[in-house]
Amino acid sequence: MPENGLERISILIEFNVLQKISEVREQVSKWKSEGLSVGLVPTMGGLHNGHKSLIKSASKSCDRVIVSIFINPTQFGDEEDLDKYPKTQESDCLLINDAGGSAAFIPNVLEMYPIGFATKVSVSGLTNILCGASRPGHFDGVTQIVAKLLNQVSADRAFFGEKDWQQLTVIRRLVRDLDISTKIISVATVRDEFGLALSSRNSYLDSSQLNIARKLSSILQMSAYNIASGGYSSVECAQAAQILLESGFEKIDYLECRNSHSLDLIERTTEDECRIFAAVYINNVRLIDNHVVV
Ligand code: PAJ
Repeated sequence: MPENGLERISILIEFNVLQKISEVREQVSKWKSEGLSVGLVPTMGGLHNGHKSLIKSASKSCDRVIVSIFINPTQFGDEEDLDKYPKTQESDCLLINDAGGSAAFIPNVLEMYPIGFATKVSVSGLTNILCGASRPGHFDGVTQIVAKLLNQVSADRAFFGEKDWQQLTVIRRLVRDLDISTKIISVATVRDEFGLALSSRNSYLDSSQLNIARKLSSILQMSAYNIASGGYSSVECAQAAQILLESGFEKIDYLECRNSHSLDLIERTTEDECRIFAAVYINNVRLIDNHVVV
């Protein structure tokens, strides 16, 4: 096989790049037979410090960490940015190695979806609100690939970011409902110095758009504070949406206060934790964020 960039990297830093499901299974069985615990961090690549924090958390609590990099076509809609999604596998492997990851799993599409693939995995209810309402089929793609990855790796723990809170909630339900034994661990959102949640989509913004994007977090935090102080969430959310539009955001997809676990809409705070969730657009780039209401 000709030497490609990934092989060069793996030789250069003695880093394990796995491309086949059989190789992953073999590696994980070997580690487990040595009594080592295994963590999994699923990603789509384009790794940044948000992903790095997941890998670091995983390597703190697990002896070995596999980071999967797979731009999963089934979770992208027809109009979405699948083709322009960043592909930075070599720098991704360096970041994984640097954060304490033990191996990268980088399968191709046919490895994951062989000819004749016909199985759907779907979590109902939690997936037709928030991001699911404007991205029909998105969470079916997420649960399909995450179920496969959890099965392929059989890790002790798998790590997901709180930035994608709805995704985290849907995956927790998937794992509970299908009796998958991997424990799901959540990791806090990593933000830049202005509070903007790190995302590979931030790289599509120019500097003036970035300045607008950086207002999102503080506006959400302000309305979370107002709701926690007794405000009606419908009133506070409508006000925050108005402020976002005045601040230069083009469009608000949603801005809602919901129970953190059931994702039910909340009008006033209760004993249960709730969160404010937003998806907004700048220059056709869709950004999401959420903050706990305390
Ligand atoms: P991706 O967008 O690459 O994100 C991989 C993981 O990194 C997710 O768990 C996400 O919540 C987390 N993450 C991203 N930005 C973060 C930030 N700023 N702080 C903390 N965590 C952050 O999410 C996906 O990929 C895919 O849907 C996937 C689960 C891999 C299935 O294809």
